[in-house]
Amino acid sequence: MRILLTGSTGQVGNALLSTLQRLDHNEIIAPQRAQMDLSNPDQVRQLIQDIKPDLIINPAAYTAVDKAEAEANLAQTINGDIPSIMAEEIKKIGGALIHYSTDYVFDGSKHAEDGSLIAYTEEDQTAPINVYGKTKLAGEQAIIASNCNHLILRTSWVYSTFGKNFLLTMLRLANEREELKIVNDQWGAPTWAGWIAQATTDIVSQWQTASMSQDWWKEYGGTYNFTSGGTTNWCGFAQEIMRQADVKRLLKKNAPVVLGIPSTDYPTPAKRPVNSILSSDKLRDKFGIQPPAWQDALAACLEPINN
Ligand SMILES: NC(=O)c1ccc[n+]([C@@H]2O[C@H](COP(=O)([O-])OP(=O)(O)OC[C@H]3O[C@@H](n4cnc5c(N)ncnc54)[C@H](OP(=O)(O)O)[C@@H]3O)[C@@H](O)[C@H]2O)c1
Repeated sequence: MRILLTGSTGQVGNALLSTLQRLDHNEIIAPQRAQMDLSNPDQVRQLIQDIKPDLIINPAAYTAVDKAEAEANLAQTINGDIPSIMAEEIKKIGGALIHYSTDYVFDGSKHAEDGSLIAYTEEDQTAPINVYGKTKLAGEQAIIASNCNHLILRTSWVYSTFGKNFLLTMLRLANEREELKIVNDQWGAPTWAGWIAQATTDIVSQWQTASMSQDWWKEYGGTYNFTSGGTTNWCGFAQEIMRQADVKRLLKKNAPVVLGIPSTDYPTPAKRPVNSILSSDKLRDKFGIQPPAWQDALAACLEPINN
């Protein structure tokens, strides 16, 4: 199988580069920005036509959520227009597209009558409240409209020991400060890029086992929530990082105290949804994939740096 992998310098793409190696009869082509610039639609189209992949896996995205408010056109090109081109071209070849999307396609207002938050299912109404979410939704909609063989995997709060993310920011701040004030009124599930890559590879392997049949996509294609199990807020995540990371050994100092604050005390250019909790029931029912509890995934991620 010839796989065209984008974003291999990002958190998920980099993890995929290793997990995809374990598949048999596999050729991975992972062009970097210099060879495949996602702000250049003509170049992307030509490259797909030249490579003729059986599968495009597209974790590349414009992911700077706050900056996107001022760079809406660029974010729309990368997150909205490029997935549309990928879908159109892969359909012509008769291949398939695995694309990643986000909890930010929702407005975060879903709740029960008593005010408690309820997890979003794949069927819930989308209503993004920031530019990044709007452009990611545009990408989803273009892929679905193209009717190509596809999976849209909606993940949330992605972290790893690689790249730019909340985990590494917290470890940097732990080195600099004795007290951290972190938002405690946005709820979701931190999701390890390593798990996203493993679970994606499991799915690709299931398609391979089905002899890469086109009919497989009628049964399994579509949109899936793709996050860790359990729920926390950013402050809870930061506290768990300080509890699990061997800060004393890593930084030669005590872990800082982590205090919760409301979002109103930490204004950002882009609004964030209060409720980012996504149900994984469909992923479990269709693919037999049970996401790990977010705390267990964090432990697995930290293992190499703690030991
Ligand atoms: N990060 C999160 O918290 C989060 C949450 C929900 C959903 N997601 C979704 O999950 C997926 C993976 O996210 P991630 O955290 O792995 O992203 P990431 O670490 O920010 O990596 C983004 C990747 O996209 C590439 N890219 C950006 N602009 C490009 C351009 N013009 N041309 C070529 N490549 C370009 C980057 O390349 P360079 O290294 O050259 O910049 C990088 O490899 C994305 O679809 C994202 O929307 C992420």
